[in-house]
Amino acid sequence: MIDQRKLPNEEIYNTYRTPEEVAAAIKTMVIRGAPAIGVAGAFGMALAANNSQAKDREAFFAEMDLVAEMLISQRPTAVNLPWAVRRIQNFYRNQKDTNLLVLQNKILEEALRIFDEDVRMCRQMGENGAPLIEEGKTYLTHCNAGALATAGEGTALSLFYEAQRRGKKFKVIASETRPFLQGARLTAWELGKNGIDVTLVTDNMVGHLMRLGKIDGAVVGSDRIVANGDVANKIGTYGVAVLAKHHGIPLYVVAPSSTVDFDTTDGSKIPIEERPDEEVTAFFGTPSAPAGVKVFNPAFDVTPHELVEAIVTEKGIARAPYSQNLKKVLQR
Ligand code: MRU
Repeated sequence: MIDQRKLPNEEIYNTYRTPEEVAAAIKTMVIRGAPAIGVAGAFGMALAANNSQAKDREAFFAEMDLVAEMLISQRPTAVNLPWAVRRIQNFYRNQKDTNLLVLQNKILEEALRIFDEDVRMCRQMGENGAPLIEEGKTYLTHCNAGALATAGEGTALSLFYEAQRRGKKFKVIASETRPFLQGARLTAWELGKNGIDVTLVTDNMVGHLMRLGKIDGAVVGSDRIVANGDVANKIGTYGVAVLAKHHGIPLYVVAPSSTVDFDTTDGSKIPIEERPDEEVTAFFGTPSAPAGVKVFNPAFDVTPHELVEAIVTEKGIARAPYSQNLKKVLQR
């Protein structure tokens, strides 16, 4: 895995050999972004299978089930993590007649399938959503919903990559994304590397820019979209959504079906991860607040579906009413 904590200053790849190491990489954000942590979770399960010394299926399943819970518990908001891990669990539970050694290999194959499917879903979201990116316009994106956040080209950013391939000229504004700086460190780096015209702003500049008419649309990813269309995404997305509504600017959410959680009825029920104080009180090791100050550091917020113009998935684009149309588009 590329160590995303070190970007853009250093491009370092880490190798992990145990599910515990993968779990720590997820927790500490070496790898981050909803689809990417889902794929990492699947590979964590494949490593557990590969490393297992269990002698029979029962012992093997018990061991694997413990690893599954351990992996899932690392980050609570993005549903892609439990989605991928549970898929591996269902996979081995349904392989009734398979010998244990064969099963261990088959689990790796299933993890690789999850990886490949994510790559394809990214491409498909790009193709479905690229028509929303208009010639000569400027789009805001928040956090990093690109190649770094997925196995493929990204969710929100896949629209830009596909629009670019189609020869469109457009501009992107990346908001910094306090406190972890995914916008500054990752999105600005990723888009710049891929030749997309990107301008970095701090989060508190977005309202001003919208008022000046400098933003034509906002395109973001999601960590969990629930049955009524409410969207959890990186902290700050809700503020962008309210501002966009006020200024008559469309907000597009781009996410694969692995991000959609029909079991949760509305956004108030989405668990919101709280992260360590130091992310807010220091800039990557350098203190930027008085020692001991009280801190609140939620990593995500929920944008109510009324503020969302459209949800782009790999299966098509859903528009309101989301409680009906999301299911229709996803054929679930
Ligand atoms: O805390 P992070 O960096 O994992 O949060 C990531 C986001 O909020 C992204 O916008 C989201 O995962 C969608 S990206 C494909």
